[in-house]
Amino acid sequence: EGLSEMRLKVNGSERSLVAEPRTSLLDALRENLDLTGTKKGCDHGQCGACTVLVDGRRINSCLTLAVMNQGKEITTIEGLAQGEELHPMQAAFLKHDGFQCGYCTPGQILSAVACVKEGHATSDAQCREWMSGNLCRCGAYPNILAAVREVAS
Ligand code: FES
Repeated sequence: EGLSEMRLKVNGSERSLVAEPRTSLLDALRENLDLTGTKKGCDHGQCGACTVLVDGRRINSCLTLAVMNQGKEITTIEGLAQGEELHPMQAAFLKHDGFQCGYCTPGQILSAVACVKEGHATSDAQCREWMSGNLCRCGAYPNILAAVREVAS
């Protein structure tokens, strides 16, 4: 089978990898670049666990091919903190217990970052609507909402 060489800019670093052209961005991040903070839940665009930012906009990384994201700025959960300092959204999730098992948390946090940045966090209802693609089996939704609203305020 044909393999392709690709270059992805992830969390500010240029990374190269060799993978099949049909490799999803999610698999490229996890399997080729060892960035396992991005989680695979459904692999079908249904759960939001794989959410990352591409050029500042959130996407489900299971639904896009790695090759299509060359030349773009990709941000994963590993890229949010500045050294030892957590991103404000990470700190807010901690403060408000915005997770239980934690599996959905990286995707929740990246969706939440985009929610605030794009101005969709001005009411609880608006937040809930924006975050509705990120499922949490533990049901931490009220605490997640509290975290997002605090960062937005
Ligand atoms: Fe991508 Fe579920 S793993 S949406």
